[in-house]
Amino acid sequence: MTKKTLAFASGSLHKWKEMQMLLSPYGYEVVLPKDLGISFSPEETESSFTGNSFIKSKELYRLTGLPSFADDSGISVPALGGEPGVYSARYGGPGLTDKERALFLLQKLGENKSRDAFYSCVVSYVDGTHAVSFEGRVDGLICSDYDEEGKFGFGYDPIFFYPPFGKRFSQVPESEKNTVSHRKKAMELFLNWLSNLK
Ligand code: IMP
Repeated sequence: MTKKTLAFASGSLHKWKEMQMLLSPYGYEVVLPKDLGISFSPEETESSFTGNSFIKSKELYRLTGLPSFADDSGISVPALGGEPGVYSARYGGPGLTDKERALFLLQKLGENKSRDAFYSCVVSYVDGTHAVSFEGRVDGLICSDYDEEGKFGFGYDPIFFYPPFGKRFSQVPESEKNTVSHRKKAMELFLNWLSNLK
């Protein structure tokens, strides 16, 4: 079977591996902008995950003419009016580490009793005919402190408690987190749609 090529609007080798693993059984080869010799860093100027996801997939399609997909994700805290949301990667200002951003969120939330939070991921896909998006979400709680012990995850995982596991995401191996994550859910919907594409 000839493999079909999908361009993935990301610079992350880690994400590429995950996507290639998921898409390979469907006969797709995933390529990154850098594999195509393209320097790719569009500004994410929208105020929603969907908007920013489409900025990336549409721009990559425009540049390559290949069916293109993108993901955009982050964590939202309703008690903070949805912050950090689309600003998750840059929360607290430029130059902070992941840990400093998580500590900034903890400080912002303070002693607030309302600690609900959710991760969202929107995967968007664009080709000559289609422009579609799929959203996954996972709900949890913001802890009162930062987990220094956990060996897993990244970003806000050391402060994100996931009730069904009774643990923080920083305490859960990637393979386990990937069974319930926002990215997994969005990708599942996308793969289901893609498998019906004629
Ligand atoms: P992006 O999808 O690479 O744009 O991720 C945006 C930001 O959201 C990341 O830099 C993290 O701060 C946060 N984020 C998204 N998904 C996760 C996750 O699964 N765990 C922890 N942080 C996440």
